[in-house]
Amino acid sequence: MRVVLLGAPGAGKGTHAKYLQERYGFAQISTGDILRAAVREQSPLGQKASAYMSKGKLVPDDVMLDLIRERLTEADCRAGFVLDGFPRTSVQAEGLRRLTEALGQPLDRVVLISVPRSLIIERLSGRRQCRRCGSLYHVRFRPPRAAGVCDRCGGELYQRDDDREETIAARLDVYERETAPLIQCYRRQGLLAEVDGAGSVEAVRGRVVDALGLGDDRS
Ligand code: AP5
Repeated sequence: MRVVLLGAPGAGKGTHAKYLQERYGFAQISTGDILRAAVREQSPLGQKASAYMSKGKLVPDDVMLDLIRERLTEADCRAGFVLDGFPRTSVQAEGLRRLTEALGQPLDRVVLISVPRSLIIERLSGRRQCRRCGSLYHVRFRPPRAAGVCDRCGGELYQRDDDREETIAARLDVYERETAPLIQCYRRQGLLAEVDGAGSVEAVRGRVVDALGLGDDRS
């Protein structure tokens, strides 16, 4: 199955995309995670991206389309993929349509996870991520067993630079301006399913799984 998870920063795209990878074997493609790894490694991609990311701005479309073109042709994507954080502009959406068409792998579903702004700020300001394996936590809603340590791999948990309040506001504005218009495009194409992103991680996960028509034991 080929899926896009759409939603504002902090809506839960990464949380549910990781679950879909673990439970169903779809390749999780988080453009944010790919870019953050590139920034850490100070690769040419990371050097291009870091100034945009630290201000909450979008990395240019041509850079993102090159990255996705390369990633979607990797072998693990043949079993299906979940895009988390891409596309974010109409240029990216059109590029993705052409690319998936050329690969003979058109999108099956776009799931929009809707969350009110007040909840987003609370989620992002409490988010922690593992430096080693990328697992996601929240200091209040999903705390690790030991503070600052990943349950899964023992790696160090850190707070993302762009989860500061002023950068969060900039990211939300960019989402409204650049990404929200894609909702209507995907609705017109008959691909969109909207789920309520408020409630516990497990409750929202159930709605996402239902929206994709996947059976799930909810364990
Ligand atoms: P990216 O990493 O994609 O960030 P984002 O879209 O802003 O999304 P987030 O990762 O912040 O949130 P999420 O929806 O994944 O929520 P999560 O599951 O973590 O992008 C970062 C930057 O990279 C961009 O600003 C841009 O500069 C650049 N970039 C990336 N892609 C790009 C592109 N295509 N084009 C151009 N530039 C690009 O959940 C958040 C928190 O809430 C976690 O702590 C989680 O544990 C908690 N949580 C989740 N669900 C629940 C729940 N139901 N109840 C309680 N807590 C919950």
